[in-house]
Amino acid sequence: MQDLCNFLNESHTQYHAAFAVADRLEAAGYTRLSENEKWDLVEGGAYYVTRNGSAVMAFRLPQCDFTGFMIGAAHSDSPTFRVKENAEMTDAEGYVRLNVEGYGSMLCAPWMDRPLTVAGRVMVSCGDTIETRLVYVDKDLLIIPHVAIHMNRGANSNTSYDLKTDMVPLFALGGKKGGFKAAVAEAAGCSPEDILGTDLYLRLRQPALIWGENSEFISAAKLDDLQCAYGCLQGFLQAEAGKSVPLFALLDNEEVGSLTKQGADGTFMQDVIDRICEATGKDKRVAQANSFMVSADNAHAVHPNHPEYADVTHRPHMNEGIVVKHGVRYSTDGASQAVFVALCRKADVPVQFFFNRSDLAGGSTLGNIANAHVSLNTVDIGLPQLSMHSSYETAGVTDVNYLIDAMKLFYASTLEEVQGTFTLK
Ligand code: CO
Repeated sequence: MQDLCNFLNESHTQYHAAFAVADRLEAAGYTRLSENEKWDLVEGGAYYVTRNGSAVMAFRLPQCDFTGFMIGAAHSDSPTFRVKENAEMTDAEGYVRLNVEGYGSMLCAPWMDRPLTVAGRVMVSCGDTIETRLVYVDKDLLIIPHVAIHMNRGANSNTSYDLKTDMVPLFALGGKKGGFKAAVAEAAGCSPEDILGTDLYLRLRQPALIWGENSEFISAAKLDDLQCAYGCLQGFLQAEAGKSVPLFALLDNEEVGSLTKQGADGTFMQDVIDRICEATGKDKRVAQANSFMVSADNAHAVHPNHPEYADVTHRPHMNEGIVVKHGVRYSTDGASQAVFVALCRKADVPVQFFFNRSDLAGGSTLGNIANAHVSLNTVDIGLPQLSMHSSYETAGVTDVNYLIDAMKLFYASTLEEVQGTFTLK
């Protein structure tokens, strides 16, 4: 559990999450590939490639001809606020605030009255080159202050949040202009004028926490979806060699629709599959038809204070296993559910089911978007959690181990389908 907490604490943004994944792959002996070079792959080899510094694909080739791809996919990004280019706003009262915009559909209230900082990537001019530098300003730098109850008596009964007015972080009292850029430049190890571009996001300072009477809960920022990313990665790393290509996919921008080169609506996954097939002389269509994808993104546990939001007969509980998710914007169907449930039975992992309450629209994820590019049998699953899209989310401590166990077996398996008959080995 400490390793999951470390991963969550290191993953300040999608860039840091991709870096933390790459770091673990390097430590496990994986060879880094570049998209702008030819890939010479050898049987038994273990590889990874990144795109945009925020998405990662890792895979291993078996010692023999392979049947298909066993893909586990999660996303690296989470709802937050993005810092705009000309960030500092000074006013007549002497406050210096930061101009930010929403990233994804966040719950606003939990971002207020708690220490925040900024993290992300900075593009630095270095002579003829432009370097990418990851930054995390390791300081309690910002707070978004709530209006006092005395000034807004309706605060507890009918509050709506206007992003441009209410969700503006306070940075300084007076001081000269340029302090924010100077703080970012210092974290990037450059001078402010060498910064050519940034992707900076607000980051909660509160680290991951295990809590509860019996330490049954874990709370952290970005559990959606880094808990699944971690579980899939560990399962991937621990899986024994089989006759498929295990492929771990971490994709970016799920929270804003996936429509980027590093998102599920880009070509990253298809490009990697194409290149593996080209390098090994495998027919891509045959391999893809013998493939399966687990789209892993967290699910809603029944809420302790609002159990009425859960469907009547589908009520996921924390620490009671992996949730198979159904919905109009999910890929799960009876066939893909059956394959996954059979796998979990083999792995001795409990499974629960999620359907939306029939009058609620529910969420979406990357599975069906990726399917528009790489079309294959896909199941949407997740771990049950509370407070999804809060700045600090809560889940059960044991569920991630269920995911690791299931993915460990999944990545070692092969799946073949002949006219509706599936063989999982
Ligand atoms: Co998610």
